[in-house]
Amino acid sequence: MNFFIINGPNLNLLGIRNPKLYGDDTLLDIEKWLNAHDNTEGHSFLWFQSNHEGEIIDHIHKAIDNADGIIINPGAFTHYSYAIRDAITTVNIPTVEVHLSDIYSREDFRKKSVIKDACIAQYFGLKKLSYLEGFKKLLTALR
Ligand code: DQA
Repeated sequence: MNFFIINGPNLNLLGIRNPKLYGDDTLLDIEKWLNAHDNTEGHSFLWFQSNHEGEIIDHIHKAIDNADGIIINPGAFTHYSYAIRDAITTVNIPTVEVHLSDIYSREDFRKKSVIKDACIAQYFGLKKLSYLEGFKKLLTALR
């Protein structure tokens, strides 16, 4: 199966961005790690990162006819982008929301996700393992 893995703003700076919260891995490290993981064998992943809301929405639209499932870490857009939420409900492709950090143990504004209800699950606080858990959930849902 084909999966889109979409990462939002500031995630291009993983590795130097607050490693205590987000881990030491760069986004490319996470990409290589997941692509090579035993559980993901036989599946294909298209990784995408953007700091721009509209580009993320355009990419979600490309999932129509091109992806069986989507894993998205919307970054700070998680907390206020109704447009990204609408894009996910519009394409109607099973989507999992993931976060490296525990958004529920941080600032109050991070406790609210406007994306969550558009997704089949949300994983947070597991650093890069959140992406793997998201993938496993999609596999189960698509079986
Ligand atoms: C994040 C959590 C968000 O609140 C934050 O704005 C990010 C990263 C995470 O992966 O923990 O950019 O999505």
